[in-house]
Amino acid sequence: MSVPALHLRPAWALLKKHHQKIRRTHLRQLFAKDSERGQKLVAEAAGVYFDYSKNRITDETLSLLLQLAQESGLRDRIDAMFRGDQINTSEKRAVLHVALRAPRGASIMHEGQNVVPEVHAVLDKMAAFADRLRSGEWKGHTGKRIRNVINIGIGGSDLGPVMAYEALRHYSERSMTFRFVSNVDGTDFAEAVHGLDPAETLFIVSSKTFTTLETMTNAHTARDWLLAGLGGEQAATAKHFVAVSTNAQEVAKFGIDTANMFGFWDWVGGRYSMDSAIGLSTMLAIGPDNFRAMLGGFHEIDEHFRTAPFERNLPVLMGLLALWYNDFFGAQTVAVLPYEQYLKRFPAYLQQLTMESNGKHVTLDGQPVDADTGPIYWGEPGTNGQHSFYQLIHQGTRLIPCDFIAFAHTLNPLGQHHDMLLANVFAQTEALAFGKTVKQVKAEGTPDWLVPHRLFEGNRPSNTILLDKLTPAALGKLVALYEHSVFTQGTIWQIDSFDQWGVELGKALAQRIIPELEEAAEPKLEHDSSTNALIRRYRKMKQS
Ligand code: F6P
Repeated sequence: MSVPALHLRPAWALLKKHHQKIRRTHLRQLFAKDSERGQKLVAEAAGVYFDYSKNRITDETLSLLLQLAQESGLRDRIDAMFRGDQINTSEKRAVLHVALRAPRGASIMHEGQNVVPEVHAVLDKMAAFADRLRSGEWKGHTGKRIRNVINIGIGGSDLGPVMAYEALRHYSERSMTFRFVSNVDGTDFAEAVHGLDPAETLFIVSSKTFTTLETMTNAHTARDWLLAGLGGEQAATAKHFVAVSTNAQEVAKFGIDTANMFGFWDWVGGRYSMDSAIGLSTMLAIGPDNFRAMLGGFHEIDEHFRTAPFERNLPVLMGLLALWYNDFFGAQTVAVLPYEQYLKRFPAYLQQLTMESNGKHVTLDGQPVDADTGPIYWGEPGTNGQHSFYQLIHQGTRLIPCDFIAFAHTLNPLGQHHDMLLANVFAQTEALAFGKTVKQVKAEGTPDWLVPHRLFEGNRPSNTILLDKLTPAALGKLVALYEHSVFTQGTIWQIDSFDQWGVELGKALAQRIIPELEEAAEPKLEHDSSTNALIRRYRKMKQS
């Protein structure tokens, strides 16, 4: 279906007008008008309770946003994704992360072939390896058991594994140590191996392309470290290195036996790969059964996204609401605030998922997109954020829609902690929405001069996402919710949410500059005057 430019879609113009009408309407008014609002504007699926009542929307807003989704061809595009069409048009690739979590026996086609059996073959290979490693059957070169696992990767080959390890630490094998190296800054590697015995350490080199500068540099450094620690015997590599990649040729070139390579496919984007073999470190930490439970959670939301009517479709609603603030209220960011310590890396994970996906300036056919795309996602776990940046959310001049994420049960029941934590979630969303009026502030005996300082305007929107407990399945559900919310937004902007050309220029320039920093003779520099001067200054400083 061909989709007209945004400003030509009827719902867009209607939303513009509608926004003018309701932009000053206060959440206090909306709640006062309908005493049931808090029960009505909720959606629930797969054990996820989504309260979106504290948003600056009316029934009309919702129906116009849903109309926009229809006019943008969202239904067709969802079907196209699940059908294996090349919806990543600029890279001419299908987008099939949903196949990574399809149950055994399901059928998802790619170029005339059902990919689900292949997916499960890799999962089975990962599980067999995980069982051998976790049981101690797989030994290092000197015969010692592997106790330390270090994942080397960056971007999607790091953020998912780190986030999932932290999120599911409760379920992890505590007798093993898991660390992650991503940055080309040598400090990252040095600290990751600090105190570890090479004879007990396994490196997973995770890279879709197996050519990424940071990862390959760290992988070579890891091999040097290992060999130095094990008397220089090249054969040691085989027992201490495995690879996760789509590039068997480069893996073999590095010296890793391709029998110890776990594959995936070009239809899995880096930032959509934590549930592929890129999740090997996660599986080693939590075991194959828990990993499969996580995939089950992903799949439940996939099915919900694929089949639920848009008005009850959680990722669709999340995407539309994010777009409502981004494009109509001019909000530039979305704060993600997990009230769960184990999700401390979740906002960082979402930064790549959302911003690498939707930070685009042209539509699928190369025309400038006629609205702001990709809001900035950021956040920190509650309650820490409350003592740092919430001030700005409550009383600053910017509008920051927030996603609050909470669980009914804690994995670490300690006294009153959990009720206190949850009380803070509910208190924050209430305070943001309703604020405190002049009358209320004065009634507290506040002197007039102090009233403006103590005033809370309110009308600050938030979603609350409430789940039962942070299980592997719950994590899968949460990630899938955001993946499909990103897709929903990208579809409305008609952008390619699955390429990432924007990271290329910096990479290419760095490749050009590396020799200029290392050459013994003064290099002939042909950059701008600032870059030239910085390079010269650095060369001088490092010699002193
Ligand atoms: O930074 C761009 C990027 O291509 C990401 O999309 C990707 O997740 C990351 O680099 C790592 O790539 P690879 O897995 O190929 O090493």
